[in-house]
Amino acid sequence: MAYVKIKDIFLHNQLWVARQLKKDPKYFKNLALGQKPQYLFIGCSDSRVSTEVLMNAEPGDVFIHRNIGNVVPSNDLNSLSVISYAVNHIRVKHIVVCGHYNCGGVKAAMTVSDAGLLNPWLRHIRDVYRLHKAQLNAIECLDERYDKLVELNVIEQCINIIKTRDVQKALLEKRLNIHAWVFDVRTGNLIDLKLNVKKIMKEIMDIYNLFDEE
Ligand code: CO
Repeated sequence: MAYVKIKDIFLHNQLWVARQLKKDPKYFKNLALGQKPQYLFIGCSDSRVSTEVLMNAEPGDVFIHRNIGNVVPSNDLNSLSVISYAVNHIRVKHIVVCGHYNCGGVKAAMTVSDAGLLNPWLRHIRDVYRLHKAQLNAIECLDERYDKLVELNVIEQCINIIKTRDVQKALLEKRLNIHAWVFDVRTGNLIDLKLNVKKIMKEIMDIYNLFDEE
């Protein structure tokens, strides 16, 4: 950010307002009418994961939830409320879980350390490590193991999303897609992990299915 002072932020805001109005005098009038984003983006709070910038999106394009390590715990009312509202009311067509390499949350979850208040939060990522311990420990290079845990965490959070009632219902109605992405902060590239929702459902729905399909 070229500006660091608070007053500069407000100056920048006024310049942006002027630019938008020059392009379209009705821009804010239309923006105020409502939102109809097609994407729900669940990402990490990391300041480098600038959702709109990396998606080339505009205000109104993406419904966003971000937390440390882009996790969706089964009892986290915050992320679950965002998903429920996005799926049932906004009726987004896509849910994206986007992790990122060099994620401090994932790194902390790979480390023997007491993170205080963050311990229970990071444990969701430690649980992902435990689930995939054999695969991860087989990777000798620690940097590569770190990258792999970032990817596996994204996939596990997508699976957590599939376990929820609202998402299962929307999937049954064939009006929702789920995507696993990683943002590579080292190159700027967005990577699609090509989540296979059908395959995952085949593997887990005998346990997590909430609806009788008949
Ligand atoms: Co992060």
